[in-house]
Amino acid sequence: MATSSIYQRKEDETANSEIYDQIAAGYDNDYGRIFKRVKHEIEIQLSQLPLVSPSIIDVGTGTGENILLAENIFGSLNEVYGIDISHKMLEIAKEKYPPMQIVQASALTMSNFIHHKADVVFIHFLLSYVSIDKLLPLVAGLLKPDGYISVASSLLSSWPKGQKLGIPLGLSPSSAKHYIPKSSQELRSKMTNFGFKEVDSIEIRKRMVFDSIDDGYRFGFEQGWIYQLFELLDCAGNPEKFAKDWSHIIPYDDEIHIHIGLYKKSKTGKGREELLHL
Ligand SMILES: C[S@@+](CC[C@H](N)C(=O)[O-])C[C@H]1O[C@@H](n2cnc3c(N)ncnc32)[C@H](O)[C@@H]1O
Repeated sequence: MATSSIYQRKEDETANSEIYDQIAAGYDNDYGRIFKRVKHEIEIQLSQLPLVSPSIIDVGTGTGENILLAENIFGSLNEVYGIDISHKMLEIAKEKYPPMQIVQASALTMSNFIHHKADVVFIHFLLSYVSIDKLLPLVAGLLKPDGYISVASSLLSSWPKGQKLGIPLGLSPSSAKHYIPKSSQELRSKMTNFGFKEVDSIEIRKRMVFDSIDDGYRFGFEQGWIYQLFELLDCAGNPEKFAKDWSHIIPYDDEIHIHIGLYKKSKTGKGREELLHL
């Protein structure tokens, strides 16, 4: 079955770390164009928080851009932990923000390494790699009683043109193994079910035009279920073949849908033990 290997790939954290080690150096350039808008919305949400020098755990910190953003908003930060599976992404993050305590490990093992509770936890563009049902109880355990979670995630409705292209070939985004929220509403309900109250949220729909096939491949590579399309087209792991067969779709014009939300740990929320048994 053509789709099975992507799921193995996604569950295989070594593969995730290899992929991100490979793209780390160009990451800030490639993703800059969506992150500018995303960062702006995260900034608006974090600016509402009544916190002074908060402590932050950034899960899947990547190149640490969101920590710089937080430093800019709050002026100074208390303890900052950056956890990521990719050594190269962490190297860049540490260079940008030297006080960051970096942990190279899977997000699902973070409680073994982090023994301080934080005011804010960031989960930005990580949900397609890690099961939300396993992650949220861990996050709840690492948050102070009145702590906040800032979440950003792409939604399953992203790339409508790519989906149209792929569905006749067998693309099946809704069967992606890890959690990719169908809609903002669904992600909101999930957070609420886990005992987090919404403070603010927004869904952005951003048009994206790829002028180079390599650019499109790199971006798709990283987009979880869209990578499935490369497998169906027999181009997975073979950007040269993708470029040869699909250059005619350039400029490729599509859109990405992203939920950006700020949630507060509710005092009456479920306890960690209770959450772990959901
Ligand atoms: C799309 S990037 C997002 C980076 C950053 N949060 C941002 O918003 O710019 C996803 C990050 O998650 C990391 N990652 C992937 N799987 C992971 C896992 N199982 N545990 C921890 N980090 C993981 C990748 O190495 C990568 O740095």
